[in-house]
Amino acid sequence: MAGRLRPSLLPVLTLLLASAAAPALDREANTLVPPGRAAYVAGALPDRIILLATDDPARSMAVSWRAEAGGDPAGLVQVAPALDGPGFEAGSRQETAQARSLPGAGATAWQARVDGLRPDTPYVYRVGRPGAWSEWLQFRTAAGQAAPFTFVYLGDAQNRVRSQVSRVMRQAFRAAPDARLVVHAGDLVNGRQGNHDDEWAEWFHAGGANLAEVPNLVAAGNHEYLKSGDGDAYTGLMPHWPAQFPVPGNGAPGLETSTYFVDLMGVRFVVLDSLGALELGKAQVQAEWLGQVLQGHGARWTVVVHHHPMTSVSRGRDNPPLRAHWQPLFERHGVDLVLQGHDHAYGRHRMRGAGPAGDEGPVYVVSVAGPKQYLTSPAARRQMARTGEDLQLYQVVGVEHDRLRFEARTATGRLYDAFDLVRRPEGGNAVVEYPDRVIAERRCERPEGARCRN
Ligand SMILES: [Fe+2]
Repeated sequence: MAGRLRPSLLPVLTLLLASAAAPALDREANTLVPPGRAAYVAGALPDRIILLATDDPARSMAVSWRAEAGGDPAGLVQVAPALDGPGFEAGSRQETAQARSLPGAGATAWQARVDGLRPDTPYVYRVGRPGAWSEWLQFRTAAGQAAPFTFVYLGDAQNRVRSQVSRVMRQAFRAAPDARLVVHAGDLVNGRQGNHDDEWAEWFHAGGANLAEVPNLVAAGNHEYLKSGDGDAYTGLMPHWPAQFPVPGNGAPGLETSTYFVDLMGVRFVVLDSLGALELGKAQVQAEWLGQVLQGHGARWTVVVHHHPMTSVSRGRDNPPLRAHWQPLFERHGVDLVLQGHDHAYGRHRMRGAGPAGDEGPVYVVSVAGPKQYLTSPAARRQMARTGEDLQLYQVVGVEHDRLRFEARTATGRLYDAFDLVRRPEGGNAVVEYPDRVIAERRCERPEGARCRN
């Protein structure tokens, strides 16, 4: 057909075809909610159901959910050993939940903990109240001792979460269907502007029922903190955080809602609050607590999670107080892996020369799940074993007796980084890399100013 057109029409046709094939980028708002509309109003039935890792994950569970405020005040959780068919309800027991208000949302957040469970056992549970229950959800308690398992680690979701992070979280759960834990390294939502409740609704949508069937380990980022009216000072965690996330409460003094530790199947997971350290003068109090929880805890592996990275990957960022207060403790106590976010890029490295007996200290990883992307710094590209830009990623970590298997995959499931930490007989870890298995290092295709795409 094109051959019959007058040559003067060809540029017009080309332009029309190009515009049909590549629509202009939509400057999408941070949520999918139309301006002035309400999309996530709490109803009678529970939603936003999430399991949180407890301080005894082999024998207990902690859950929170949302329901409309008012009515019968008693939120309940019913728990029963799972059966291969129906009839489990007859074996259930019930606990009463504690209510927390969710500001501005016309809703109540409920929190409950159930103790006395058996290790490594499948259970079903439902939340709500008589006449308004959730579906029965299924989860498995942790084994009561060290045993091989897999966990998922996600960097910042933060922006346009329902629109653009949902696929990443679903891909992660398809890749690790037997995961026993999900680690979220902060900035789950953007927070600062707009309707925070809509953002949280979209984060729960992105994670879906997976959040309710696998325990979660959440670290707070800077975007989970509110700022003063003039925007100069951080004033505290947004109320959604403690309302939704009943964490163990065994953290640093004054930071019990954002620092804690969990022992799960041979791994001690320690969650730190890097915003508190960098902006609220809470680096040393966490260091003192950290020294205690890292000291001779007996777990085979130690994984630390905090939001701001020990060494920045992206341009124009640095966090020296973390290196001053925390890095020496990580090295002295043999932390194996540090999972971080904040920089909206990928980076993985060790700090050479650190640690005892030739050990090089922990492996530090920065990753990002959401669409906001920053450029990596020349120093990071030079010094780190692996960096990446313009990537949405999820990570799957396999824990074995003498090996951690780490994989970072792109939103489409392609392997972006892969390494093993292999425990040396004399202590410390060797890093084994798999350069032949991973795709090429990715750089931003459209470096615009200081940011790649935002
Ligand atoms: Fe951040």
